[in-house]
Amino acid sequence: MEIKVKSQSLLKGIGPGAVLVLGHFEGDGLSAEGVQVDKACDGIIRKTLDANLFSGKFLTHTLLQTNHASLPHILLLGLGPAREITPNKIRQALGIAATTIRETGLSRFFIAPHAVRLATRISISDIVQAMVEGVLLALYQFNLYKTDRKETKEIKEVCLIVPPKDKTAGVERAVLQGEQIANAVNMARDLCTLPANVLTPTRLVEEANRLADAHPAIRVSVLERAEAQQLGMGAFVGVAQGSNEPPKFIVIDYQGARGKPVALVGKSVTFDTGGISIKPSENMEQMKYDMSGGAAVLGAMKVAAQMQLPLHIVGILPATDNMPSGHAIHPGDIVTTLSGKTVEVINTDAEGRLCLADAITYALRYKPHTIIDLATLTGACTVALGHQAMALFSNDPKLEGEIQKASEATGERVWPLPLWDEYFDQIKSDVADLKNTGGRPAGSITAALFLKQFAKDVAWAHLDIAGVAWNSGKPQPYNPKGSTGAGVRLLVRYLMNLVKP
Ligand code: BES
Ligand code: MN
Ligand code: ZN
Repeated sequence: MEIKVKSQSLLKGIGPGAVLVLGHFEGDGLSAEGVQVDKACDGIIRKTLDANLFSGKFLTHTLLQTNHASLPHILLLGLGPAREITPNKIRQALGIAATTIRETGLSRFFIAPHAVRLATRISISDIVQAMVEGVLLALYQFNLYKTDRKETKEIKEVCLIVPPKDKTAGVERAVLQGEQIANAVNMARDLCTLPANVLTPTRLVEEANRLADAHPAIRVSVLERAEAQQLGMGAFVGVAQGSNEPPKFIVIDYQGARGKPVALVGKSVTFDTGGISIKPSENMEQMKYDMSGGAAVLGAMKVAAQMQLPLHIVGILPATDNMPSGHAIHPGDIVTTLSGKTVEVINTDAEGRLCLADAITYALRYKPHTIIDLATLTGACTVALGHQAMALFSNDPKLEGEIQKASEATGERVWPLPLWDEYFDQIKSDVADLKNTGGRPAGSITAALFLKQFAKDVAWAHLDIAGVAWNSGKPQPYNPKGSTGAGVRLLVRYLMNLVKP
């Protein structure tokens, strides 16, 4: 699909069969663009508004057919009240527009971001970037394994029509960044959607190597099972020991600058059966997405490299699957982590924190100024926050604020949960330093508190993305069913803000 920026009259259209998308704020009159188009099309828009067939209510839309040769189709797109508009609402609205138009079988559309701009205080670049992201995220489809690809409906061209003064390098950059970010989210979605027989730890290494091949500033190193064992990663190796699939401890080092890095750690369990503490069969197939944290880290680092951000970033993906077998870890086993702390494994299904414990300790070797981990860590997180937000935990208020700021800019919601010392009693073991589960109460918090022990005194944040990584319900404006690629946009924004606060 091609996204272009043009400076021309809307009335010229962009060629046969194209749809003009006309954003409309609820309760406002027609925009200048609306008036101009309405006049050229025999007042069809006013008639529609006057007949109360369209009000501009957020995410509603009406497709009109006109007699105008270069403006045959107009999609009125509801943006809600102008004072309530945000970049995320623009992203959502454009997602709805793109999928609606694709559904009709039409393949090209154009829009004037400027018309949205005039009614809001959002910059033209932010509007353009949100529009591009909304379109590309919403149109995502995964059909690698559909052998009869009869699906011919496809959006081929999107054109942003701006006044000459807005056809700037800044706007062109906004298009490019929107494309880079959305494509990285879509890459993460692909990885999460690929089944566990394809997306193995070995395949994750290949994906990391692909990044390194494309970007000289990226180096990838991998610890094999024996090396991880030798180093003392008893927790990670303990999780991996039930599987015949070789685990890979993947380190991706992006040196866009010298100095202390930010470490991004992503849970990369390529399939979570639960191990000996096996999960029920119902919905177990979804556990292929238990590497969503790792996918988010890969996606964010890809964008960082494309944007050549002047940062040092170390990505760590402890990749393994979690299988029951004759050599699987038992409940009750005690493992010694890379940190030296011992852990009693109460439940082999609490494997994520075991992998992350060793990954966070390994991250400390790089003397990071910050560690952020992302993980589909607990079902309890979905109980607490549902599918609307990731849980945010941190030992550092400043970092917490930075992540909240990135969250507000991207619409990837985070919500803070506490790490009070009193919860620690729940993960004290009678026989080891820690145990890997804290019982049912506050399951996400005790999991986070477990991880906190390994970050020592480094500024650290943990994002539990269990509730947001997969959309198993209705398609959302820019999240179709399936993997959402959660975390990529949030991380990219956080990294960009490190460069330009
Ligand atoms: N990967 C799961 C958490 C999960 C569940 C993510 C559902 C997404 C959807 C994790 O490894 C797990 O099994 N956690 C256990 C922990 C428990 C045994 C303390 C859980 O949440 O049940
Ligand atoms: Mn598990
Ligand atoms: Zn898991």
